[in-house]
Amino acid sequence: MSDKKPVTLLKILGIAGSPRRDGNTDHLLQQVIAGASSHGAETKTIILSELNIAPCRHCDGCIKTGKCVVDDDMQWLHIDLREADHIVLASPIFFMGVTAQTKAMIDRCQALWVIKYVLKLPVAINPGKERKGIFVSVGGTRLRNLFEPAIATVKSWFTTLDISYAGELVFSGIDERETIHLHPTALKHALSIGQKLAAGNMPR
Ligand SMILES: Cc1cc2nc3c(=O)[nH]c(=O)nc-3n(C[C@H](O)[C@H](O)[C@H](O)COP(=O)(O)O)c2cc1C
Repeated sequence: MSDKKPVTLLKILGIAGSPRRDGNTDHLLQQVIAGASSHGAETKTIILSELNIAPCRHCDGCIKTGKCVVDDDMQWLHIDLREADHIVLASPIFFMGVTAQTKAMIDRCQALWVIKYVLKLPVAINPGKERKGIFVSVGGTRLRNLFEPAIATVKSWFTTLDISYAGELVFSGIDERETIHLHPTALKHALSIGQKLAAGNMPR
């Protein structure tokens, strides 16, 4: 019998939050995930606009069990969110925040908030490992502080999921569908972020 431990691949979950397919955040996310995959990570990308995720009803149906009573795609996504070693969330800025698809998914993690803060149980399936999260975004304007409200939301969500915020990859002044391709470094930068994430070399 071999005494070698089986190799467990790092699981990286990409979440595409834009309702526009093949848009700017989709392309950035694809590059991050390609970078992670090229460094041996097991990757999976989910497209929120293709899923059935209702908004949280604040029915408190999860308050005693940590299990959401709404029967839709969030049921399996909760498991993916708890199993992932790292999460890359991509959402463009809509009215200074994340998209409705992204916010619905985030709000439905209230059941995981209950697991952490009410039941005082670990949210991560492998609580010994440090989980990291990255936020990928673009906005059409060049407003100062454009990404700050969304980053605050994402940080709050990552904290609930027992994920350390490892930084953001954000670009302002990107509005039309594929404008990100005109940016001199964005896609290369995205690829290298994915490589670093898989290699355990994220700076924070
Ligand atoms: C409903 C809606 C709201 C938006 N709100 C903002 C905003 O508040 N600030 C901004 O800079 N861009 C805003 N935009 C522009 C998008 O962020 C921009 O088009 C982005 O490139 C879309 O990313 P995607 O290609 O990944 O979908 C908005 C776009 C839509 C459709």
